[in-house]
Amino acid sequence: MNTAQALALLGGMSPNQFMKRHWQKKPLLVRQAMPGFVPCVGRSDLMALAGQEGVESRLIVDSPKGWQMKHGPFSKRGLPPLSQKKWTFLVQGVDLHHDGVHALMQQFRFVPDARLDDVMISYATDGGGVGPHFDSYDVFLLQAHGQRRWRTGRQKDLSLQPNVPLKILQNFEAEEEFVLNPGDMLYLPPKYAHDGVAVGECMTWSIGFRAPSQSELARELLLGLADEAFERAGDALYRDPKQAAVSASAAIPPSLVGFARQVIDRALDSPLLLESLLGAYLTEPKAQVWFEASDAEADLSKGVQLDRRTKMLYDEKHIFINGESFRVAGRDAVSLRLLADDRSISAQKIKSLSPDAQDALRDWASEGWLRAA
Ligand code: SIN
Ligand code: CO
Repeated sequence: MNTAQALALLGGMSPNQFMKRHWQKKPLLVRQAMPGFVPCVGRSDLMALAGQEGVESRLIVDSPKGWQMKHGPFSKRGLPPLSQKKWTFLVQGVDLHHDGVHALMQQFRFVPDARLDDVMISYATDGGGVGPHFDSYDVFLLQAHGQRRWRTGRQKDLSLQPNVPLKILQNFEAEEEFVLNPGDMLYLPPKYAHDGVAVGECMTWSIGFRAPSQSELARELLLGLADEAFERAGDALYRDPKQAAVSASAAIPPSLVGFARQVIDRALDSPLLLESLLGAYLTEPKAQVWFEASDAEADLSKGVQLDRRTKMLYDEKHIFINGESFRVAGRDAVSLRLLADDRSISAQKIKSLSPDAQDALRDWASEGWLRAA
């Protein structure tokens, strides 16, 4: 992607300018970010998706009794009638199920893949919404169908209403208000307060991001480190032939502390362990993703492309794909990085790969991670 090119998607800014001025900093309203946008997922497609097992969805109803929330799957009959106002249902991860939605998400790859999360699609009847709230992550809110009135504000007071099944700001104070039409888009940085209310029937696509917390990383990395420490630890017991007689019997011998520290130090010293664990974690498929493996010999002769659900990242020394990590170097590294960036690789490039790398591609194809182009 040419990150210096001005894009209608970003209101005539280049990705470079957008990242510098807005990303994680301040909102951006883009009129006609996608001129003539025709959504490839309609109301009935979304309802069908919300009925499927393994698809994450929520129904939110703003009723006289207060806010109500239910988790899917929903049958069509499980949803309120379309004639009823003030309800919305939201389907998470639509990009995993739909090629067109996955393709649209690619336009946002000027942000690293490690940060890009999913496309959530909401449908709402007139007056429907999820209430004034803030999100922890950046989001692009693309108006796909109908109109939505957004009110936004740099809210300092982030206290939430008590005893409500969803996060609703207690004292929301809007500073700005915009009505979005199909093709318009609003970018909001994390923690920016917003309230989107449907004006008539409406559908909104949220291109969402993820940001790992340090505590989440600590848990993941330390689990991997523990495995490594177990592998490296010998069965040898602590020995102390030089132990002198002690009068302070309860004191722990310093050499026993050293013996304990040794096993942790050895695991930490393991070269590139942290990098390898991090990449594997960041490419872990989402919980609801299952690939269909096949025994048939993979055909690489026409080139291959990544399955839309495949996550592939790299660093200087590794390629990571769907939770696995591979050490690569030289020409293989260059070509496999290209596969990760372009999400496809030509037959010609495949031929230039080493036999080991070609075998890896065949394995990934039989896992269902990639398919013939
Ligand atoms: C929606 O699409 O209704 C909610 C999106 C959001 O406010 O984050
Ligand atoms: Co939000």
